[in-house]
Amino acid sequence: MHRLSPSRRHFLQLSAAGGAVLAVPGWATGWAQQPSAPAAPSELERRPFGKTDMRVTVLGFGGAEIGFEQTEQSTIETLLNTALDAGLNVVDTAECYRDSEVQIASAIGHRRKDFYLFTKCGHAVDGASADGAWTKGRLLASLERSLKRLKTDAVDLLQLHSCSLEELQKGEAIEALEEAKRAGKTRYIGYSGDSKAARYAVECGRFDALQTSINFCDQECIELVLPLAKEKQMGVIAKRPIANAAWRYDQSPTNGYHVEYWNRLQVLKYEFALGEARANQGPDGAAGIAMRFTAMQPGVSVLIVGTTKPERWKQNAELLRAGPLSAEFERSIRARWKAAAKPDWTGQT
Ligand SMILES: NC(=O)c1ccc[n+]([C@@H]2O[C@H](COP(=O)([O-])OP(=O)(O)OC[C@H]3O[C@@H](n4cnc5c(N)ncnc54)[C@H](OP(=O)(O)O)[C@@H]3O)[C@@H](O)[C@H]2O)c1
Repeated sequence: MHRLSPSRRHFLQLSAAGGAVLAVPGWATGWAQQPSAPAAPSELERRPFGKTDMRVTVLGFGGAEIGFEQTEQSTIETLLNTALDAGLNVVDTAECYRDSEVQIASAIGHRRKDFYLFTKCGHAVDGASADGAWTKGRLLASLERSLKRLKTDAVDLLQLHSCSLEELQKGEAIEALEEAKRAGKTRYIGYSGDSKAARYAVECGRFDALQTSINFCDQECIELVLPLAKEKQMGVIAKRPIANAAWRYDQSPTNGYHVEYWNRLQVLKYEFALGEARANQGPDGAAGIAMRFTAMQPGVSVLIVGTTKPERWKQNAELLRAGPLSAEFERSIRARWKAAAKPDWTGQT
């Protein structure tokens, strides 16, 4: 098991604190070396979204949780409306997040011009068989269903929902999205997925955007995918950007989806994600460091954090306002990963 020497541990602790103290509040500190208009102190930074016409807020909303947790509609209304009031402008959902699309449309459909709406297609829904889920006919039917549920004529981004590398290489699924774009049902198209398939999605040059897992427990894409995505000027959405907050569990989580990151944390042993340090809810606590780490990776445009809690986006926006981690601290998180990562620590879907 990988352990750091005491001096290394001390350095990590110090630089965690230093990153928070030294960073100038706001985004003018030069996150991610991307050109971006500096935000006023009280505003969320907006970043270019690849070659598209969108400038996205660095913090967006991930719509999986509200669907799977079956959050009360009144809670979702408060959560999303207060977020939009404060300038958050990216809402991501999918056809298979239970009622997420319907919940979002019902809460903020009347404010459609205030935000960019991203959805995904390709999973079997309505009891349909998973066989052939990536054919053109099935994908376009899935989009029609989404548009109806979202109560809109077109989405801003339609993403293939994590099909395999083999499905991508067949080409039919990508053609379906291109057809939807030509028909004006989506303004842009993207791939949502990880590892070698994400690399292929970038290499093939047919997508405007990539959604992929990026966090301090999931760093494969930082070298495998992000540099090329940046070079090709794709919009990059960081999914699972705070590693599902896996440090909050004392024991292996019952939510199977969170287990892999929890297991990785047991090996990585980041001091800020251990023991009493986990109670720190400030910018140099685990959630703050997680988001600041993800947001400073070159090429990243927006972090879509999932939540069911109305107060959360405000708390997270505040954490991001602390700016990037110090370069030394970021390097130490990268180095710890490189020393500890096992061959099967690939990007998690
Ligand atoms: N294959 C795909 O395309 C795919 C896969 C996964 C995710 N996604 C997208 O990415 C979005 C985000 O992914 P995710 O929700 O799995 O992961 P995540 O954003 O890394 O983690 C969400 C979890 O973190 C908690 N959380 C949020 N802020 C926190 C904070 N400051 N302190 C402590 N806990 C905090 C939330 O709980 P609370 O409710 O307590 O806030 C929630 O349980 C999804 O909603 C979805 O849109 C796409």
